[in-house]
Amino acid sequence: MRTQVCIIGGGPSGLLLSQLLHRKGIDTIVLERKTRNYVLGRIRAGILEVGMVNLLREAGVGTRMDAESFVHEGTVIAYDEDEFSISFREHTNTDVIVYGQTELTRDLYDAREAEGGNIVFNVDGVEIHDAKSDAPFVTCSVDDSEHRIDCDFIAGCDGFHGVSRQTIPDTVRRDFEKVYPFGWLGVLTETPPVHDELIYSSSERGFALCSMRNDNLSRYYIQCPLTDDPADWSDEAFFDELKRRIPSHYADKMITGPSIEKSIAPLRSFVTEPMRWGNLFLCGDAAHIVPPTGAKGLNTAASDIHYLYHGLMQHYMDGDSTGLDDYSQKALARVWKAERFSWATTNLLHRYPDQTEFDLKMQRAEIEFLRSSDTAQAVFAQNYVGLPY
Ligand code: APR
Ligand code: PHB
Repeated sequence: MRTQVCIIGGGPSGLLLSQLLHRKGIDTIVLERKTRNYVLGRIRAGILEVGMVNLLREAGVGTRMDAESFVHEGTVIAYDEDEFSISFREHTNTDVIVYGQTELTRDLYDAREAEGGNIVFNVDGVEIHDAKSDAPFVTCSVDDSEHRIDCDFIAGCDGFHGVSRQTIPDTVRRDFEKVYPFGWLGVLTETPPVHDELIYSSSERGFALCSMRNDNLSRYYIQCPLTDDPADWSDEAFFDELKRRIPSHYADKMITGPSIEKSIAPLRSFVTEPMRWGNLFLCGDAAHIVPPTGAKGLNTAASDIHYLYHGLMQHYMDGDSTGLDDYSQKALARVWKAERFSWATTNLLHRYPDQTEFDLKMQRAEIEFLRSSDTAQAVFAQNYVGLPY
């Protein structure tokens, strides 16, 4: 078969790109190795920058998001029994919205299927061929039958463990990585959130985050050793530890409940350069990973999709490939700033095994500076709501 853009990966990146291109009459196919339900079963973050919100609306999938999401004008930073709020609206005149990645992925699947999108599930053995030529193609198997997709371009939206990044030769590609010596133990509960804003908390026992999906679905995290197993943590033990890491007035009013999901995510900073190789373009987690502290994973995938979408439109509609030629450099410029913010907030709020007393004093001084400085809070807010595309 033939298509204009072959998209590998049916997560948020691949689905958003497919839906945006479809609405401009550009033909795509999405190759997903799992099932739709498996993809929707992944519990991921829920903070959307305005850039992502606008892309989802442009893709025609903003209705439920606009009806069900929450606008957050700021966030709470807590440390032991102290806390302060940072107002996004005061410093940037913008907000973020809370809308679960699972929900926007569902909206994208529904839209693609309603508009006759070509999404193939349970795809095995995807291989990218001749990406450096003008006639690239992808091979794969579905239900034990082999397929070949000839295309103009390939979008590698297949996440950190996908095949796309590995297609770029080691002699061309440079990987940059930092693995953190801890993870996040996350719990989802059908309980009202403890506060109407997120609470990022740094305590001597470690980091904690109080988040939410809606007014009866709370998402909580505690920093944990990488050697921990979710099965080792009863719900009671989790909430006991969480409450010891946040100011007591929140802990005292927290409504706890049985976990409907419990998992541990390792924290990693990762970027691969370049994000383009011939007619293969990497997007989202295929090219970069951030620790979740800054809520930048999905939102940095969104800016990649923005750049690639506009580059492909310019190519097909104006015969101008400037956008495609500039893709890697433009995407990476924003990716690295998101990596820096995610790395800096992780360092600011987490406890490291080898921290000295001096290190702890530096960490506390930085939190105190953030508390006391309008300028520092403006910088935090500008990064959190999302730097310009
Ligand atoms: N062939 C086909 N599909 C594949 C392959 C493959 N070889 N390898 C991976 N995939 C699929 C995965 O099953 C997944 O559904 O690619 C998709 C990649 O989706 P994500 O990992 O969600 O990455 P992305 O779409 O870039 O979304 C980035 O979502 O997962 C979060 O933390 C991530 O917030 C970030 C955002
Ligand atoms: C979440 O709600 O899952 C979430 C929110 C903010 C973060 C990370 C995760 O920084």
